[in-house]
Amino acid sequence: MILSEVLIDEKEIRKRVEELGKGISADYAGKDLVVIGILKGAVVFLSDLVRCIDRDVGVTLDFMAVSSYGDSTNTSGIVRIIKDLDCSIRGKHVLIVEDIVDTGLTLSYLVKMMLEREPESVRVCALLDKVERRKVEVAVQYTGFVIPDYFVVGYGLDYSGRWRNLPSVHVVVPERGDEA
Ligand code: PRP
Repeated sequence: MILSEVLIDEKEIRKRVEELGKGISADYAGKDLVVIGILKGAVVFLSDLVRCIDRDVGVTLDFMAVSSYGDSTNTSGIVRIIKDLDCSIRGKHVLIVEDIVDTGLTLSYLVKMMLEREPESVRVCALLDKVERRKVEVAVQYTGFVIPDYFVVGYGLDYSGRWRNLPSVHVVVPERGDEA
């Protein structure tokens, strides 16, 4: 695969992340909020997002690493926990932060799993949403950008582990000779 055009540039991302942070700040003012990053893709987005949530919200961070059974482009919906949360979320307000929602299978599993732990509330914030790829309905309360079904990298998103460090979101396309 090769890196192609910029789909969302740094400036657009910054502006949208600030808006999301403002919305979250308003919704959770005076409350405590456990922000849960889903590794690894969400790390870059999360680190910018939490700095746009103001001090009226008592933010703590936790992380979960999951792996979905299936190949790289077809998630099965069965999720294996590689790293669980460090702390209990019982009675807490929880915000799950994802880089991208595609079929929705991973997120739907994660939300169900969190709810079993009896938090006060669970909401989701995703930078990117490929709405047209959805296989299961899942509520995303804070969405950065709805995007078409392109393979995208950058700003935390990878192809085979690469390109997470790029500051913008790019499209990647097959190189001549790549399998279709
Ligand atoms: C991505 C993304 C979601 C999932 C979305 O993770 O972060 O967790 O895929 O796909 P779905 O809606 O079809 O379930 P990925 O497995 O690429 O791991 P990564 O974050 O470590 O790159």
